[in-house]
Amino acid sequence: MNNRTPLIAGNWKMFKTGIEAVKTAARLVKLVAGTTDIDVMIAPPFTALAPVSDIVRGSCVSLGAQNLFWEAQGAFTGEISPVMLVSAGCKYVIIGHSERRQYFNETDETVNKRMQAAVNNDLIPVMCVGESEKERESKDTFSILDKQVKKGLEGFSSDDLERLVIAYEPVWAIGTGKTATSHQAQEVHQFLRSVLEKNFGNMLAKSIRILYGGSVKPNNIAELMTMPDVDGALVGGASLDPEIFSKIVQFKK
Ligand code: 13P
Repeated sequence: MNNRTPLIAGNWKMFKTGIEAVKTAARLVKLVAGTTDIDVMIAPPFTALAPVSDIVRGSCVSLGAQNLFWEAQGAFTGEISPVMLVSAGCKYVIIGHSERRQYFNETDETVNKRMQAAVNNDLIPVMCVGESEKERESKDTFSILDKQVKKGLEGFSSDDLERLVIAYEPVWAIGTGKTATSHQAQEVHQFLRSVLEKNFGNMLAKSIRILYGGSVKPNNIAELMTMPDVDGALVGGASLDPEIFSKIVQFKK
């Protein structure tokens, strides 16, 4: 047993207008009302953050953003600052998602800058790491993950990282219907915890939540959650429908 509170997070990616997001969030708040032993977070697109914030306020659902820029303000057309996210009601921010690494030139260095901005602004970072299918096949999974974690967290002390969340999202399992088996997830989560331990000590490594992401559905969440180092899930497709997402949140029932 450990004392990490599980976190079930929904990454809505580039789906839902403001009105659709408000409807989904309102339904979700009703469906998961009374959840006490699990943290719940949803990350709608930027344009829906402020209206969804009004809906989830006072409920057990927290708000997160899908990305941020590291400057507080300035001439950075198209970017969103951590201060803006906080004022829109965000508690969490997803950083370094594989889709950003793949399509928007995100690197371990820019992940590190975003991490610093998140921590300095009291946002809880959900730092995403994961290997591609090719990297897994060539047995590079552990070396890739080691590098992503070390570079992403370079310059931080264990005190800075108390609220850090890591999401292990194997790229080959995202949106493909191919889930890592619970044992594959456990093997990697255990490895990630050992990397944290080596770099930041046992206390921190034990307290950090490591989520699994990649085709999580109501029918596989319970099995994943039996693994000792799986502390929750970062859910894409199945988080868009509140009825389905609430089943993932309530996996114990
Ligand atoms: P899917 O659940 O759609 O596979 O997406 C996972 C993901 O990328 C969450 O961030």
